[in-house]
Amino acid sequence: MSETPRKRLLGPEDARDLPERIVSAEDTLEDEVYGASLRPRRFDEYVGQERVVENLRIAIDAAARRGEPIEHVLFYGPPGLGKTTLAALIARELGANFRPTSGPTLEKPKDLVGILTSLEDGDVLFIDEIHRLGRVVEEFLYPAMEDFQIDFVVDRGAYAKTIKLPLKRFTLVGATTRAGMLTAPLRERFGIVHHLDYYAVEELERIVTRSAGVLGVPIDPDGARTIARRSRGTPRIANRLLRRVRDFAEVRADGTITADVAAQALAREGVDELGLDRLDRAFLRTIIEQYGGGPVGIAAIAATLTEDAETLEDVVEPYLLKTGFVVRTASGRKATSDAYRHLALEPGAVRARQEPLL
Ligand SMILES: Nc1ncnc2c1ncn2[C@@H]1O[C@H](COP(=O)(O)OP(=O)(O)OP(=O)(O)O)[C@@H](O)[C@H]1O
Ligand SMILES: [Mg+2]
Repeated sequence: MSETPRKRLLGPEDARDLPERIVSAEDTLEDEVYGASLRPRRFDEYVGQERVVENLRIAIDAAARRGEPIEHVLFYGPPGLGKTTLAALIARELGANFRPTSGPTLEKPKDLVGILTSLEDGDVLFIDEIHRLGRVVEEFLYPAMEDFQIDFVVDRGAYAKTIKLPLKRFTLVGATTRAGMLTAPLRERFGIVHHLDYYAVEELERIVTRSAGVLGVPIDPDGARTIARRSRGTPRIANRLLRRVRDFAEVRADGTITADVAAQALAREGVDELGLDRLDRAFLRTIIEQYGGGPVGIAAIAATLTEDAETLEDVVEPYLLKTGFVVRTASGRKATSDAYRHLALEPGAVRARQEPLL
């Protein structure tokens, strides 16, 4: 599925110069090519997010009874948690066409109008990264969502008049990782809004077990759990780690994924028991060993790591905040006692000079 233009072979656009990170939640071309078969095709293959799924099923059933499309749906939440998957499932469940596009590709009103006028009755129009729609394009969407029509203004001044172009009744499904960047008028036009949250280890275990089944690779429950624990609450990462572990299991072991095989394979990738990679650990060690545990500003951390501050804020810090290894204070970032414990460092630790950070 090529719904977004941002996919790169080497990871996310946000990561600019960063090396490819196996624990990145952003989708890569590799995920798209090798992960396509792992995408759930039916609601009952979709693990977790029970409340969201239940609500969607009710909305779909109710709409089907009335012979109407369902209300417009907005999904928001971190990358890799299944927003696109859910959008495709809605279309499938409705027996409707799935028409994926994304905010950044809809550059001009005519791009959007072209798609809107080609929709058939009941189609599901999916706009990924909907927070990146241009303002003018967005304004065309308002009457389309509300009244299934497009308003064109022709002529100017005293002769200006609005021409209304009717559309088929469609359902818009929008997805965003940045709900805060949506304008209020756009947000208000969605009848169904769901936040997707990180998955529990036990849910990721089920996802890994199911995916291993699809890939035809034998896995035992402890093997699945080992991968699940390192997946940062994110199904996309779980599936990516599974593929890497499978390769290792086939080449270096007898093909079965056990806890031991999984742990060895992921240690080789630099992924530790909690899913932190080298960059995450370098970030923590910079705060601890270079700045006495903090508080230290992100710009100083970035300078030490020779990375871009914004990149670190976008792709490294969120998970460290979530795990409670880092806290943000008014005067900068601080490493918590959990961070010291996880890295087995003592307060006052300094790095041996010859030891590289990354
Ligand atoms: N609930 C789930 N059950 C099983 N597999 C899942 C689930 N959610 C996601 N996945 C797997 O994770 C992959 C990533 O999901 P998806 O592409 O839907 O994420 P997303 O939220 O759209 O991410 P992004 O914000 O980057 O667009 C899917 O291809 C699928 O294999
Ligand atoms: Mg997506």
